[in-house]
Amino acid sequence: MTDEATTSPQTPIAVASNRLPFSFHRTSKGLERRHSPGGLVSALEPMLRKRGGTWIGWPGIVPRPSEVIETDGASYRIAPVLLSESEVTRYYHGFSNRTLWPLFHSMSDRARFDGRDYAAYAQVNERFADAVVESAPDAGLIWIHDYHLLLAPRHIRRRDSTTPLAFFLHVPFPPYDMFRLLPWDREILQSLLACDLIGFHVRGYAQNFLDCAERVLGARVHRDAMLVEYGDRTTRIDAFPIGIEFDVFEKLAANAPRPREIQQERVVLGVDRLDYTKGIPERIQAFEKLLERYPEHREKVVLLQLAVPSRSQVNEYRELKREIDELVGRVNGRFATASWSPVRYLYRSFRHERLASLYRDADVALVTPLRDGMNLVAKEFVACQVADPGVLVLSSLAGAADTMREALRVNPYDVEGTAEAIHRALEMGENERASRIAALRIRERRDDLDAWTTKFIEAATIGPAATLPLADTDFVAWLGGFIDDHRLALFLDYDGTLTPLCEHPDQARLSPAMRQALQICAKRPDTDITIVSGRGLAGVRKVVGEEGLIYAGNHGLEIEGVGIEHFEHEDLIHYRARSEALADQLDEIASHGAWTERKGPTLTFHFRAVPEPVREGLIEDARQRIAKAGYQPRPAHCAIEARPPVGWDKGRAVLHVLRARYGPNWSETARVVYVGDDQTDEDAFRFLAGLAQTFRVGSPDTPTAASRRLPDVDAVQSLLEWLGRRPEPRL
Ligand code: UDP
Ligand code: G6P
Repeated sequence: MTDEATTSPQTPIAVASNRLPFSFHRTSKGLERRHSPGGLVSALEPMLRKRGGTWIGWPGIVPRPSEVIETDGASYRIAPVLLSESEVTRYYHGFSNRTLWPLFHSMSDRARFDGRDYAAYAQVNERFADAVVESAPDAGLIWIHDYHLLLAPRHIRRRDSTTPLAFFLHVPFPPYDMFRLLPWDREILQSLLACDLIGFHVRGYAQNFLDCAERVLGARVHRDAMLVEYGDRTTRIDAFPIGIEFDVFEKLAANAPRPREIQQERVVLGVDRLDYTKGIPERIQAFEKLLERYPEHREKVVLLQLAVPSRSQVNEYRELKREIDELVGRVNGRFATASWSPVRYLYRSFRHERLASLYRDADVALVTPLRDGMNLVAKEFVACQVADPGVLVLSSLAGAADTMREALRVNPYDVEGTAEAIHRALEMGENERASRIAALRIRERRDDLDAWTTKFIEAATIGPAATLPLADTDFVAWLGGFIDDHRLALFLDYDGTLTPLCEHPDQARLSPAMRQALQICAKRPDTDITIVSGRGLAGVRKVVGEEGLIYAGNHGLEIEGVGIEHFEHEDLIHYRARSEALADQLDEIASHGAWTERKGPTLTFHFRAVPEPVREGLIEDARQRIAKAGYQPRPAHCAIEARPPVGWDKGRAVLHVLRARYGPNWSETARVVYVGDDQTDEDAFRFLAGLAQTFRVGSPDTPTAASRRLPDVDAVQSLLEWLGRRPEPRL
């Protein structure tokens, strides 16, 4: 028997992230290419180096016309996405680093919300999506990374509906109460749910995402199976705690010479990007407290803090640098002696070779972020403990704390507690140090970067997750308390809602089971059904053919049925004759299978059968003729509707029915449920927002104002069946 995992060729991957492995910097000698900072690149670079693939990202600079972005030299393909100055300002510094970064780290008071930043972010994400689709057409997996590209999945899915699409977030996903501060919360979740798989570092972030999908979007969430169903797509959600190249760090540590930064004192080491999430000031204060409380450490211990310059164009980062400079000055001023300074602060970047020796020879690693997606420094420190074992002091607010249980855990806001932990670490006997480090090393060696990559790619490529059939418990949760003991005013679109969309409207017939479900609901004395269709009134009446209902045809321009007077919009009279004339004109261009559906005062021009090459021209021609005849051309499923510009739509039609049926205080009497599948139903969804429970049927890739989505016509049938058998209201 062959082992498939080892014999099958590796899935070619396309990886997209804001950062490429290198970033360009302008110097007096021209453009210089430097290793990009941060944990994302530390993880993705070795992965691509080993597996190959395409990496789509931004080279970190806006090149001048004479400057060349050299992307050669890597064992994988690099596709740079170039951005303008204003895009960098709004998309990268703005929405990514001033809005999403603080918000996702639960620091909402630092988050700035600016619609122009968001618009640029959306535009740049679309550009990344195009670059992904165009630069890696052979990819077996498209894998998007991190908070800069939250809106890319939706665009990618629109252009490529089949390649497995996955997302991994390298930062925390915040709780619902934090996430919903974002004015664009729905758009972001909808985009992510275009993926087959969304991965987070730890389960808590995944659970936050499930909460948000359920509470913000009304998606159907299966917490045990970790699935989100939204429209007709199911997305897997899971935790994939990232690992490091353990053996590489171990080897580096084994071979590195003693670093010159470490002399005779004992060293407490901090290694971070200069970022307000990393808790550097709190850490320096904790070290100060240690020296205050335990004078025996004076002149014997130093805090060696490395801070990698980061995002220095963002104000908060510049302020933080000033704050740290001052704090270091204060602590050193307070405790320094002629031969010893307590805090050694180095504001620059170190290569992994140098870091490995520092990790190895430090006595204590102080990893105390206020919030951190994972934190790779903690893991790298552990991998480098090849000699005298050091002690890891780890913030309980870093993702790494979820698994690295043997570290000394601290709350980084608790300055006293952190000082105590540093003291304990410095005093810890060798046996305890060795035991803790050994346990940490076993886990990090096993759960290394290769293990992470394999696990994620396997999960992303096992094929689409199944959609579980809707159950009574779903409907009870969505509608039980809402309808309660009230009358139900049920509004149903026809095509695409009660019947699947067909080649020709004449083929769209109610299935016997759907008809039965409709009849059972219609018979209930507590339920009033209105069919709201784009078809003409006579047409929809005929095709549904049920008595006891209300029918709203032509998107509600004509309404009749039980309990209300016949209604026709007052301006329609002017459009009957014009509609016929327009239909004749459209018939003149109706070639290649296009045809005109005459619906009295309105019409629909269908082009489903028209081959692609001639389609665009034909649509444009039809649009122009419709507009010239004084109608509004509106897009529909493979068709254009010609709508009279009379300021009437399905939303207004619903209001008309409700008022005619139940009077001006209709909301006292009836509970409204509306189910529809297309753009024209959006008018009703918008009108009913907050007043009703609304369902949009079908693909989740078009934005909707509906409160929930249903995957397909079968789900609508299940809904009707439940509405038909729900308990009778109490008297
Ligand atoms: N790093 C580096 N040089 C430095 C400081 C840090 O290469 O001088 C690397 C470090 O090895 C780690 C990454 O930067 O791989 C930091 O990742 P982490 O997850 O800790 O934090 P992030 O910066 O991604 O928030
Ligand atoms: C964090 C983010 C990464 C980012 C890195 C460095 O690790 O999750 O996406 O690349 O910080 O930040 P920068 O803004 O320099 O890319």
